[in-house]
Amino acid sequence: MSVEDDKRLAAEAAVAEVRDGMVVGLGTGSTAAFAIGALGARVARGLRVLTVATSEATVRAASAVGITVSDFADYATIDLAIDGTDEIDDRMWAIKGAGGAMLREKAVAAAARRFVVIADGSKRVPAIGAAKLPVEILPFARSFVTAQLSTLGAIVTVRPDYRSDNGNLVADCRFAPMPDPRVLARMIDKIPGVLGHGLFLDEVDAAYIATDGVVARLER
Ligand code: 5RP
Repeated sequence: MSVEDDKRLAAEAAVAEVRDGMVVGLGTGSTAAFAIGALGARVARGLRVLTVATSEATVRAASAVGITVSDFADYATIDLAIDGTDEIDDRMWAIKGAGGAMLREKAVAAAARRFVVIADGSKRVPAIGAAKLPVEILPFARSFVTAQLSTLGAIVTVRPDYRSDNGNLVADCRFAPMPDPRVLARMIDKIPGVLGHGLFLDEVDAAYIATDGVVARLER
């Protein structure tokens, strides 16, 4: 079994939770792409769902397999969201956003009655913190925000020639080691000009993690 097989198995397990009539949030990234494929196959067999997407890439991927995507701006809540992750630990804390979509991903995850993370086994860690933490920054406040992030102990790298789907900058923050994620999240949230970051500490309800072809389900 390859890592790609594990991504697919985790994605298929999560998509099996989708029921007729649900409003489903679609994540971003290579693992989420397997979920979009699996959902598209069910839609082709007659499943009726409404979906919202966490990125423009996901809108395109979903549309390509016949899934209709609605505007998340019209939804206060949704039934289920399925998304990948860069790291997840047994507290159900996750770091997301390598694909730069964490601001929309967190809004969709928070709106979901159930948020399910899907991953291959390489993403499961004893404690999150080794992955770079992406932070979305208002371009107007770039230097101020990156300096503030540095004072929190991060080595900060603004992604070159990159804008998020929201038109903003993304900086990757390397902590060695990462401070207590709850404290860190509060500190980052307090910086004016920060629009979002990839620490998902309260959102994840469940995770499907596939390792060597075996899918484990974690529940909060
Ligand atoms: C995008 C994300 C992705 O879900 C995360 O980076 C995992 O991606 P992949 O499944 O390709 O490893 O947060 O912003």
